[in-house]
Amino acid sequence: LTAAEGDRPLAGRRVVVTAGGTREPLDPVRYLGNRSSGKQGYAVARVAAQRGADVVLVTSAELPVPQGVRAVPVETALEMARAVEQEAVGADVVVMAAAVADFRPAQVAGHKIKKTHEAGPDGAPDESAPTVALVRNPDILAGLVAGRGEALAPVVVGFAAETGDEAASVLEHGRAKLARKGCDLLVVNEVGAGLTFGADESTVHILRRGSEDVLDVGPASKDVVAGALWDAVAELL
Ligand code: CTP
Ligand code: CA
Repeated sequence: LTAAEGDRPLAGRRVVVTAGGTREPLDPVRYLGNRSSGKQGYAVARVAAQRGADVVLVTSAELPVPQGVRAVPVETALEMARAVEQEAVGADVVVMAAAVADFRPAQVAGHKIKKTHEAGPDGAPDESAPTVALVRNPDILAGLVAGRGEALAPVVVGFAAETGDEAASVLEHGRAKLARKGCDLLVVNEVGAGLTFGADESTVHILRRGSEDVLDVGPASKDVVAGALWDAVAELL
């Protein structure tokens, strides 16, 4: 191992990272969104670039783009799915750190939805509350797993924010999700119970497909979590 390789273990690797919560429009001024800050995904992209990788960041967050990273801005889950599908061709690794909306409004109004609707047949203005119908978004990670190693990147990493509940612990939920999703690594983020979304320190458990071992990281900064993730990925490359 030369000094340069030790410093830049991802040199020559192409990686795609997604970050941020997607925004699903209802009309030209409103959307359905979530509280994801995007900070963890940006840290994953930043550390990969520091370690020498060629990094594409498909992002629905608006944070400063880390040095040496190419950003592809997107808004919706559908836009993110299209961008990832393109960028993952020929890549070595895709890390899905984005909080992708599971559903989107079935219809996007072309104009601002008004509080009082047009008068009905009886002439009275309609002030009833509207109902928003939703449809499922594609599962981007599932598409990557299906195309893994053929057209798309051979290593696929998922993220999951989990809380424990009566049925199962954070780890049990994480293991079940890894089995269901079939990705190579799953970074399970503990949320709830005083562990706030967007906080600077996080506690994660990195699970590997086909292994019982768990790598516990934190409470630690998002850069430290990102470093642990790339260490785990390096073992798979
Ligand atoms: N993900 C994705 N496409 C979606 C939803 C999620 O690629 N439409 C990815 C996320 O980026 C993350 C992983 O799948 O890396 C797990 O997301 P999560 O929301 O925890 O999993 P879901 O299968 O959507 O399960 P849940 O019902 O818990 O939301
Ligand atoms: Ca989800």
